[in-house]
Amino acid sequence: MSAEDLFGDAAGTAERYAAILATRGVEWGLIGPREAERIWDRHVVNSLAVAAATPQGATVVDVGSGAGLPGLPLALARPDLRVTLLEPLLRRATFLTEVVGELSLGDRVDVVRARAEDHDATYDVVTCRAVARLPKLLGWTAPLIGRRGRLVALKGASASDELAEAAKELKRHRLTATIESVTPYPGAEPTTLVVCRRR
Ligand SMILES: C[S@@+](CC[C@H](N)C(=O)[O-])C[C@H]1O[C@@H](n2cnc3c(N)ncnc32)[C@H](O)[C@@H]1O
Repeated sequence: MSAEDLFGDAAGTAERYAAILATRGVEWGLIGPREAERIWDRHVVNSLAVAAATPQGATVVDVGSGAGLPGLPLALARPDLRVTLLEPLLRRATFLTEVVGELSLGDRVDVVRARAEDHDATYDVVTCRAVARLPKLLGWTAPLIGRRGRLVALKGASASDELAEAAKELKRHRLTATIESVTPYPGAEPTTLVVCRRR
């Protein structure tokens, strides 16, 4: 599937972002050198799975955004969203601020340098990829989920084990959870999402 089919008018910008990840992202140590060849499918397109669980016009926070995943591909594919990239490490937050400026996304993408547990705001969608296992993640992110909001965590094969481990935290934060398998486009590798909603 072409970049235009996935990103519409933002296709060129999405390709620029992928090129930045494969060069500066590797030089700055944010992306492993072996990942450079598979940036597009494994990182950029994989991030789009979150779009399936993100309502129109939502406010979104990407917790532990790192080099901008999944928040930046999501913001590029969905111009209706307002996205906050939350990242505690200075080097990563600096990279994100530069990239948001270069891609001219500053009008609807913010970078906040903070840990999730120190961030005082709520969102329609809290998303994250590769940050922590679900029990710990719920402790950090549940306060960020708005009244009608949800957590959309990109997870792999461990999703159902993590869900079982998180039973106590789900109850404590009054959340219900489902596992959803999403393909960003027909024929793509399915991606597993854990979606937690307020009861
Ligand atoms: C393995 S990286 C994943 C980065 C990106 N989400 C991705 O999928 O490539 C984990 C990120 O979570 C961030 N992180 C760790 N603890 C955090 C916390 N308490 N709150 C917010 N972010 C955190 C780290 O600084 C790091 O950038």
